[in-house]
Amino acid sequence: MQRVIVLDNLAQEGLDLLAAAEGVEYEVRIGLKGDELREALSQFDGAICRSGVKITPESLVGNSRLKAIVRAGVGTDNIDKPASTRAGVVVMNTPAGNTLSTAEHAIALMLAMSRNVAPANQGLVEGRWDRKKYMGTQVAGKTLGVVGLGRIGLAVATRAKALEMNILGYDPFMSQERAADLGIELVATVDEMLPDIDYLTVHTPLTDETRNLIDLPQLERIKPGARLVNAARGGIYNEQALIEGLKSGKLAGVALDVYVDEPCTDSPLFGMEGVVCTPHLGASTEEAQTQVAVEAVGLLTDFLLNGQ
Ligand code: MLT
Repeated sequence: MQRVIVLDNLAQEGLDLLAAAEGVEYEVRIGLKGDELREALSQFDGAICRSGVKITPESLVGNSRLKAIVRAGVGTDNIDKPASTRAGVVVMNTPAGNTLSTAEHAIALMLAMSRNVAPANQGLVEGRWDRKKYMGTQVAGKTLGVVGLGRIGLAVATRAKALEMNILGYDPFMSQERAADLGIELVATVDEMLPDIDYLTVHTPLTDETRNLIDLPQLERIKPGARLVNAARGGIYNEQALIEGLKSGKLAGVALDVYVDEPCTDSPLFGMEGVVCTPHLGASTEEAQTQVAVEAVGLLTDFLLNGQ
């Protein structure tokens, strides 16, 4: 019998598949950390997680049973991959299931920021009819810079085109021909697009190359009044630089779904004028969660039962 541990909330459709899989038994154990997590992992053949649990080198010390961890989602940054490799644990993810939901959330943030949806709603909650205060800006005709033209970046770009935006894209892996076919003007560096964009959205993992991709020197180059969106990973924009950019008026707005430290319930950015924030909701739709759960269970059971 292959034993599977589910370490974060997983959609019921995924749990049903685990229950139906012959030769597999599973347990859901949420909120584990430290020694409790290490001991639990040592008793299972496979694990499924989202981003709530942190698999550190210590979590895998002495491992002799666990063979695979599947992240129900895209980013595997909560799993220490070198330590997993050393412990003989394969790390997998479900790269496709979240794409549309995350892209829609990036667009939602961009529109909410442009039309002051969050503060205007708050004004009504507090009994004010602030029609004059919340003059917005239209996105049609504006230029959106998209950094990273993978699945999510492309889904954002095609949706933004439907909103009649012009798209500048940066992605070292995309050819000029493919970009032109998609109606995207490809640039050679992120710096190159900064003076020309009204909006910027990033769709890359957080790596040594993308950490602080937008920092004070980039804000010097950016078009005055630009608005920035991040529904990818905290840290791609330097949070202190965002605060300074907003204070100086160089940035007209910032919309964030992700933060350097998560969960994040206290940030100087919260409540600043022009800022709209959500608590890492990019993949939080029923559709995305069902899809990533089903994909994760399929990957893990195939691996454990069929070795693929
Ligand atoms: C992902 O990496 O899949 C998304 O950020 C959503 C999540 O963390 O659940």
